[in-house]
Formats: sequence, structure tokens, C-alpha cells
Amino acid sequence: MKKDKTKVLIIDDDPKVSWILGEGLAEFEFVSARDGIEGIQMVSTEKPDLILLDIKMPGMTGLEVLEKLNRVQNRPEVIMLSGQGETKNIVESMRLGAAEFINKPFDVKEVEIHLNNILEKGRLRQELKTLKSELKSRNQYEQFIGDSTKMMQVKSIIEQVAPSELTVLIRGESGTGKEIVARMLHGLSTRSEEPFTKVNCAAIPRDLLEAELFGYEKGAFTGAHKQKPGRFEVANKGSIFLDEIGDMPLELQSKLLQVLEQQEFVRVGGIHNVHVDVRIICATNKNLEEAIRRQQFRDDLFYRLNEISIFLPPLRQRQEDIPLLVSHFIQRYCSLYQKETQALSQETMSRLLQFTWPGNVRQLENLIKQIVVRGDETIVFDMLSNGYAEPESPYNIANEAFVETHSPVAIAAASDNAFSLKHRVGTAIANEEKKLIAEVLTKTNWNRRKAADLLEISYRSLLYKIKDYNLNSSK
Ligand SMILES: Nc1ncnc2c1ncn2[C@@H]1O[C@H](COP(=O)(O)OP(=O)(O)OP(=O)(O)O)[C@@H](O)[C@H]1O
Ligand SMILES: [Mg+2]
Repeated sequence: MKKDKTKVLIIDDDPKVSWILGEGLAEFEFVSARDGIEGIQMVSTEKPDLILLDIKMPGMTGLEVLEKLNRVQNRPEVIMLSGQGETKNIVESMRLGAAEFINKPFDVKEVEIHLNNILEKGRLRQELKTLKSELKSRNQYEQFIGDSTKMMQVKSIIEQVAPSELTVLIRGESGTGKEIVARMLHGLSTRSEEPFTKVNCAAIPRDLLEAELFGYEKGAFTGAHKQKPGRFEVANKGSIFLDEIGDMPLELQSKLLQVLEQQEFVRVGGIHNVHVDVRIICATNKNLEEAIRRQQFRDDLFYRLNEISIFLPPLRQRQEDIPLLVSHFIQRYCSLYQKETQALSQETMSRLLQFTWPGNVRQLENLIKQIVVRGDETIVFDMLSNGYAEPESPYNIANEAFVETHSPVAIAAASDNAFSLKHRVGTAIANEEKKLIAEVLTKTNWNRRKAADLLEISYRSLLYKIKDYNLNSSK
């Protein structure tokens, strides 16, 4: 129900105060308490918007009441009422967080101005808080592109789960955006001002992972010259993102389970429990159920981590997101490399829509980056040539790897090592390819369409190769 009047609680042993204010300021609703104890109780029963608190009262003093009120979460602002010459108390109540002081005897108009000022400040503060949090969530979402039904569902789960303390397991193929989701879960949670700590369990050698996660005591092992806190301690009050959790060694899995259950662990070489308040977010592209069957992953840990699962669908199952992602990455890289933004041609876009993206969004991002850097979208036709598009392709990480293994020009340029097999073969293929293309172009009198037909490659692909091999009709 909407309250129409601002409620002010007066805590003062002098009944005249509430009578005078009640008579003079009809736009406020006044409730009053005669001493500190009654006043503190009325804060929870009456839920006032503001408090007027007398400093000098029999029993508990105003300062003592203020100290107790500071333990109430989101307590209303407090204005102190003080007699003349109580400078010392004024300084102390400032320290305790009082918003204003009014000297007794007061003028009713003066009280009205003070009350309104504080209310206005509170409203502005609240507005700022709302705007800040809206801006923050908008920023988070601006980075997370996709309006397909599948991605809208993912976004809605993120929104519901982020503010909770639940442990979340993010699953999905490589490059589907698991890390972005982990950062969003933190950014949209109540812990967002605290640290977000990422640990890639697959990247840290097994025997170092325990010390890295849980820290160690001085002398715990050779080289442990002093005590060092682990990532869990660094992440205290914030969130820890355990990436590639499927690669965590079995021995450490039980220690992690203990942290999940008791928020406690012992540093390597230590004896005392260290308590932490950390929210755990995990990600994996492994089939954990399969790992459980093979006894490589503890089932009790799995159930505990999997309080909520967020599954990120592969890009090939949400092709409608591709145009948005493309324009997002074009904007990003054009601004990064200070190039003019240009939309892709329809032909290129339809090729991108047909592709199966085994490396998911990361692969698309890398491709767009290269198009922007080279200023040539025809590379799409070469890069996404048939065969590579199979989902079971061994390539699943970075697009650069693809360029290296599929483009002879890139291979030839990739290494200076004269004994590198890749380099040798790449150079040989590149030379042969260049020779053949030049021959066919001469034969067709530089009719590029005819040449492309003869070579059995696409027209765009030929244009790209002509540019890459620096061929021209005068040579
Ligand atoms: N929905 C999306 N919107 C914008 N960028 C995205 C999206 N999904 C992924 N990306 C981008 O793709 C790249 C890969 O994403 P991310 O690192 O989160 O994938 P991942 O699932 O953690 O992959 P891996 O399993 O290989 O670690 C990042 O640069 C990320 O910014
Ligand atoms: Mg990742």
C-alpha cells in the first residue's frame, strides 16, 4: 500500500516536541517514543522514514540509541536534537552517522527544511543506486549478444540465478561463451563489488593446483619461503570461477567438496581451518556424467556443483544470432583497429549462416577480426571451404589454428624455420597454387570468372588468392 505522508519518529522525553511539530507540520505524520528503548522498538514496528533523536534523555542517551540503531539494516536517516553548547556530542554523533543537527529550541520552519533536505538527498541517492545498477546490467547484457529463443532462455536463467548464492555449473562446447556467462553471474550478483577470480583448472599443473587454490604455509614444500594465500582466500566475499572443472584431479575434488559444504579448508602444510565466504561458479565442456562413469569425477561433487546448470547451445543451433554477433564484432574490431565500419555483403553473410561453426562464437569472432584487419571479406570463402565445416572436425579452439593448417599462404608465412615440415610443405603448395592460378589466368586472358570455373573454386576465392599471391595481368 502506498504511504501518502512521510512518517517521522520522534525519540524525545519532552512531549512538547512532538506536539509542536505535529501542529506545525501537517504534511508529515509524527509518531513518538519517550525513551531510547521504546524508540528502538518503534523503528521496527512503525517503519519510519526519518528519526528525530534527542541527545539528552534519561536512561539511554541519544548517542547510545544511535549506536544501537546503526545495527539495524537500512536504518532511516537520523537527525539529532541537541541543546545549546553540546559540541562534543555533536562531533560524536557525526562520527556515528547522524545526518543533521537541530539546536533546541528550534523553529518549526527550520525543522521542515531539514526534513525535506534529507528526504531529497535520500531520494537522489536511491535514484542514483537504481540508475547505477540498471547501467551495470545493461552493460553486462550489451556484451552478451543473442536474441534467439535459446539465448533468451539462457539470459532469463542468468537473471534469476545471479542474485542467489547457488553454485552454478556452466556447460557447453568450447567458444560458446561460458566465461562471459560466469562474469555476468558475478556482475549481476550482490557480490559484484567484490573480486571475481578465475582459475583454469586445466592450465595449472596438477601438483601446483592445490597450492594455487588453497594457498600454503611457510615450509610446506621446497621453495615455500613464506605463507601464501590461495585463490579461494583472494576471492573472499566475491566469486571464484573454476574453469575446466572436469580437469580437476580426483584428490582435489574432495577438498573442493569440503569448501562447498563448510566454506572451510586447510592450506597446504597447514593445520588450521581457513574460513571463506565465496560463491563458486564452474564451467566445463566435458561430459561429466561420462567422467563419473569412468571414476574420474566424484558424483557427490557433481551433484553439489550442479545446483543449477546453464547450458550454452552451440552456435549451429542458433544461427539466427549470427547477424547480430557479426555486427557486434565488426563494431568492436573496427573501433579497436580504427577502421571504418562496413556491413558484410549478402553473399558473405549467407555463407556464414550456412557454416556449422565447430569453434562456435570464438571462431566467428576471430574470423570477423581477420576480415576487419585485412579489409577483405572474401577470405570467408576460402576459410570456410568444404570439409572443414564438419562438426566433428578436430579443430575446436582458435581460428588461427585453422588458418595455419588450411591456407598455404599462411603456412608459408608462418615460420622462418627452413626445416619446419609445415613451412616446407606450405611453401611448396603455395608455389604450385600460384603457378597454376597464373597459368589459368593467362589461358583465360585474365577472365576471372572463367578461371575460377576451370580451377573449380569460387570467384571470390580466386579474387582473394590473386591479391594474396600478388598476381597481375602485366606479369
Ligand atoms: N553471446 C556472446 N556475445 C558476445 N560475445 C560472445 C558471446 N559468446 C561468446 N562470445 C565471445 O567468444 C569468445 C569465446 O567466449 P568464451 O571464452 O566465454 O567461451 P568458452 O565457452 O569459455 O570457451 P572455452 O570452453 O574454449 O573456454 C570470447 O571472446 C567471447 O567474448
Ligand atoms: Mg572458457
